[in-house]
Amino acid sequence: MLEDIFQSPTSVSLFGVFVALLLLHLLYSSFSSQKRPEPLGPRPLPVFGNLFQVDLKRLDQSLFNLSKTYGPVFQVYFGPKKVVVLAGYRTVKEALLNQAEEFGNREITPLFYDFNQGHGIVFSNGDSWKEMRRFALTTLRDFGMGKKMSEEIIIEECGYLIKEMEQYGGEAFNNTQAINYAASNVISALMFKKRFEYKDPVFQTMVEKDNETIRLTGSVSIMIYNLCPWLGPFLKNWRDMMKNIEANKAHLRKLISDLKETLDPEICRCFVDAFLIQKKHLKDFDEKSSHYHDENLLYSVMNLFAAGTDTTATTLKWGLLYMAKFPHIQDRVQEELSRVVGSRQIQTEDRKNLPYTDAVIHETQRFANIGPLAIPHKTTRNVTFQGYFIKKDTTVFPLLTSVLYDENEWESPHSFNPSHFLDDEGKFIRRDAFMPFSAGRRACLGESLAKMELFLFFTSLLQRFHFTPPPGVPEDELDLKPVVGMTLAPKPQQLCAVRRR
Ligand code: HEM
Repeated sequence: MLEDIFQSPTSVSLFGVFVALLLLHLLYSSFSSQKRPEPLGPRPLPVFGNLFQVDLKRLDQSLFNLSKTYGPVFQVYFGPKKVVVLAGYRTVKEALLNQAEEFGNREITPLFYDFNQGHGIVFSNGDSWKEMRRFALTTLRDFGMGKKMSEEIIIEECGYLIKEMEQYGGEAFNNTQAINYAASNVISALMFKKRFEYKDPVFQTMVEKDNETIRLTGSVSIMIYNLCPWLGPFLKNWRDMMKNIEANKAHLRKLISDLKETLDPEICRCFVDAFLIQKKHLKDFDEKSSHYHDENLLYSVMNLFAAGTDTTATTLKWGLLYMAKFPHIQDRVQEELSRVVGSRQIQTEDRKNLPYTDAVIHETQRFANIGPLAIPHKTTRNVTFQGYFIKKDTTVFPLLTSVLYDENEWESPHSFNPSHFLDDEGKFIRRDAFMPFSAGRRACLGESLAKMELFLFFTSLLQRFHFTPPPGVPEDELDLKPVVGMTLAPKPQQLCAVRRR
């Protein structure tokens, strides 16, 4: 048969063309893969990938360690799923800021899809995400995010939080819930123009369910669910989360429908009103109008509520814990507060005259590193990055741990050191590698509100109280190991808030 083929001249030339094409193809692919190699990484096992080489209980740390072997851009396999990890300030900045568009999609894992069905702001992509993010940013700004109006809301809430802490008369208590409620009320005022009593059982349940959801998101069983979604109904954590989400949705729907009933298009009271007015305002032929539907309203509110409560409250809890743990730092903050502000109400404007306190708040955010992996991103197209080829739709982890603890950027990354943010004369200095809110297209949209909240809550509390461990517990026994969820939170523990003279 082969002989027959080689005896016909047409077959010989066809065969020649075939061989030439094959050679060209092989040459091209070896040339292009040489020019554009994929990122390196530990060798994956079939089916399991690198699951046995990473510590799922402290994924950020274990990826940070791998970056020391494989460099700032490397890949790991979670089962069959490939993830590209970006490590170190320079690399994360280069990707998220210089190639913002390419690295700017959100990875929507099965769990994230369960959360929001692709709607809202945090777990969505495309035109709908763009419009919801833009609308949320402008509306929150109109409602004074980072400005006077939100300052008033926060100051009012500081009063309630102080009253709550005063009830304990300096005895040890767990401040977790009170701080969650305070942060939640700030968002609630912006979303619904409503504040809840800390004792309101519906409010309590809602905040607790949000917290539990954020904690469970980082659990090992949920990571496994994301790889094998069919396992969901067999996993208790997943079932609990779905119940929490349904309960919170019902509660938010009720709050939204109350506002719908009393809506007056002439008076915009809050975020929900602004959305409903915008929806009425846009004509059907306007292409944006298709995004202003009930699901986008519900899930955007849900996102802002969850993203705005847990993060800020968690950071504030770390701040108080560090103050109890490092009393010499707390003393310096209180000395500065007494000298500059005295006993009058603190305003955001005071920040520029409180460089040490400002440095302590920044160091709290750096050291606490509450969002260690940001929220996973995805590439929007094929990218060549630092010489590596990364395919469209590849999951990307911008490893914020490696930025906030980058040894090339911070003088003493592994200790709590407010001098990271102070110059030789004690003036506050900004640091480029301070990136707890991430950067670029998907950066936190609540940054200015969060900064204002952290400053006003932290300073108002330290103006009134001295924070200490419970009697008989030495400072070095206070545990700084975090509880790992989607955020890194302090372990629930008791502190005393002792009224200052
Ligand atoms: C200390 C407080 C906060 C920290 C440390 C923080 C941090 C972050 C981080 C790391 C991300 C992910 C960015 C990325 O994927 O690259 C994020 C996203 C987000 N944050 Fe915050 N955040 C805080 C407070 C807030 C507040 C108060 C709000 C709401 C008013 C908020 C709303 C959001 C939203 C909506 C996103 C998703 C943005 C998008 O996908 O386009 N955050 N935040």
